[in-house]
Amino acid sequence: MTALPAWIGLLLALPGPGLAQPAASTPSLDVLHWWTSASERRAADQLRTVLATAGVQWNDAAIPGGGGMAAVKVLKSRVLLGDPPDVAQLIGSTLTEWADVGLVLPLNAVATRQKWSQTLFPTVLSLVSYKGDVIAAPLGVHRINTLLYNRHLLQQLGLRPPHSWAEFEGVARAVSAAGLKPLAWSDEAWQIATVFESLLLSEAGPALYQEMIQQRKSAAWLDPRVEKALLRLRWLRSLSGPGSDGPAERAWTLSARELMDGSAAMMIMGDWARGELMAWGASPYTDFGCVVVPGTEHMHLYSVDTLAMLVNARHPVALQEKMAETLSALPTQLAYNRIKGSVPVRRDLSAAARNGLDGCARDSWDTFAAPGSARVPSLAHRMAADEATKDAVAQALWRYLTDPRMDAQEAQKRLAAVIHLP
Ligand code: GAL
Repeated sequence: MTALPAWIGLLLALPGPGLAQPAASTPSLDVLHWWTSASERRAADQLRTVLATAGVQWNDAAIPGGGGMAAVKVLKSRVLLGDPPDVAQLIGSTLTEWADVGLVLPLNAVATRQKWSQTLFPTVLSLVSYKGDVIAAPLGVHRINTLLYNRHLLQQLGLRPPHSWAEFEGVARAVSAAGLKPLAWSDEAWQIATVFESLLLSEAGPALYQEMIQQRKSAAWLDPRVEKALLRLRWLRSLSGPGSDGPAERAWTLSARELMDGSAAMMIMGDWARGELMAWGASPYTDFGCVVVPGTEHMHLYSVDTLAMLVNARHPVALQEKMAETLSALPTQLAYNRIKGSVPVRRDLSAAARNGLDGCARDSWDTFAAPGSARVPSLAHRMAADEATKDAVAQALWRYLTDPRMDAQEAQKRLAAVIHLP
């Protein structure tokens, strides 16, 4: 663990604005996160209930905003004010950024007690390990390369869910001909990036994706397969049509609502959208279904949600460890992930527990578990690059999509420049 820089040490020593001590009888932890949609809220409430039973009170500090755009900024300002929360939703590379400044509490004792090296998926354990320390409690694995569809609408039109881009085009044509929207869409930069990385994986495959995203080789971004992915991105956006009903920046929950009410037939989004549909009462067996984004079979483009325990002036270490331990316990994992739309971070599910997952979740868990699958980290959800790089890529994609004068090759050059390692 890197030593605490002097400026952070000073800030942590100061009494911050939110440092009121909770009553001794109800030991509580202040949790900063961005789960504010119906399913996210329910999933967080589920955790709150389980933790209460374990003697830990969850004090909610939720910051609305899909993908955590606002939450990350609020966390930064709280740290600068000398008042870090006790617990924060830090994921992927942002975890290591904060660990580097000494803000994240190591959880090595919990990991040893709970045998995380045996019970967690190795990919998950390595994601929460840094410089010899375990630095976060993992909650669930989301699959980004998910294509959701409205079962009723496809059945009415006599269509089958698409398994190739040719089939996808056929479905899109038929849905358009029926006067409906083939694909729910939002122009929010993080959502564009979320769709694009699935298309990239589909066109480029895991090897080139790795060169582009993990190794950050600029030249790889100039590959003709990237141009194809960018052209497909533009085509997908065009499916939602021009005019007032056309592309706009809006919350992912509004797109999920279109899918739910049948005004759109399909949606490409991380499987938290599945959780949302279920929170609204839709059934994965009768109302909606999911397949992987065409061309990404046996690939798992993942985003793992994690909560980090932060170092602050309150030093509630025993309580933070209790929370981490409770979150990774099997019953918590099963209950939470069923609501959230993700799958457990544990590889030791019993056959009964695995069979209890719905088809979409089972395919996600199986693919993540299978030795032969490609487990690929999401750029848009901070698994593969720092916050600034992720934002710069998302902005470059947004510019390309919203400026019809920019062609795909120009966008490739801009993306290659953005991804370039210093
Ligand atoms: C992701 C996060 C998910 C979900 C989504 C939309 O970054 O991993 O849990 O909340 O944002 O807000």
